[in-house]
Amino acid sequence: MRTTIRIIAAVAAALAVLCGTLAHADNHADSAPATDAPTVLITGANRGLGLEFARQYAADGWNVVGTARVPEQADELSALSVEVAQLDVADQASVDALAKSLEGRPIDLLINNAGIFPRVNKIEEVNFDDYSRTIAVNTLGPVRVTRALLPNLRRGEKKTIVNITSRLGSIGLNDFGAFYGYRESKAALNMFTKTLAMELGPEGFTCLTIHPGWVKTDMGGENANLTPEESISGMRAVIQKLGPSDTGTYWSYSGDEVPW
Ligand SMILES: NC(=O)c1ccc[n+]([C@@H]2O[C@H](COP(=O)([O-])OP(=O)(O)OC[C@H]3O[C@@H](n4cnc5c(N)ncnc54)[C@H](OP(=O)(O)O)[C@@H]3O)[C@@H](O)[C@H]2O)c1
Repeated sequence: MRTTIRIIAAVAAALAVLCGTLAHADNHADSAPATDAPTVLITGANRGLGLEFARQYAADGWNVVGTARVPEQADELSALSVEVAQLDVADQASVDALAKSLEGRPIDLLINNAGIFPRVNKIEEVNFDDYSRTIAVNTLGPVRVTRALLPNLRRGEKKTIVNITSRLGSIGLNDFGAFYGYRESKAALNMFTKTLAMELGPEGFTCLTIHPGWVKTDMGGENANLTPEESISGMRAVIQKLGPSDTGTYWSYSGDEVPW
């Protein structure tokens, strides 16, 4: 009788271990990348430049996490071989939820791409709510996302952070004015990139700020002179060629440095 009880107990213990292992394996499968290829996380990946970044990196064999404010409506992104995650860069709770869902996962490359562009040409036209919103999305968004995902980036091999800026954020190149709010948001993003580069340089990070050119997207409009394919191919080449010794620099998609 005692032997039978011992056998039942041993079988039960073995089953418990097996079930625990399987449960662990399941959890791991949910959050693990599909391959040991590098991982890129792109914000605002449901349309425009973010979508094209996702398309090109996925085609190149990277693990791609593309974020969208409303994933259920991100049909073009969902049709790619990528993971789609919810993210509103101006909402701290949303940023925290993303970071929690990615806990422990290495990210090699973060592309802070999401942005907005209200067109305000004269100071009398400035609307302070719109101005604040522009700073909240274009400047504070990348700060929030970078801070939240820093543990993941520290685990990544490439340790690269790319902020998608604009030539309109260059103080040196501002020779015609206009675009209140947007210019300031991107100039501040450029300064954030430089400051971050100074702090994270000793850890081997590469922090870059890149102007995509004038591109045919909802933001750039039909008259723009570049296709998303051309802009993203150019920016990917810039990202590919630069490393830690280039950290804290400002580039154009064309491979030229931009004056601050
Ligand atoms: N196109 C150009 O000529 C040009 C030139 C210079 C710089 N840029 C910069 O390039 C980046 C991408 O621009 P684009 O031309 O692709 O613009 P776009 O076509 O207007 O797309 C903007 C993307 O940002 C997302 N987004 C906006 N607010 C967000 C928020 N609060 N949280 C998360 N995502 C948000 C949008 O998501 P929803 O669909 O949910 O709105 C969308 O995915 C921007 O940073 C822009 O400033 C573009």
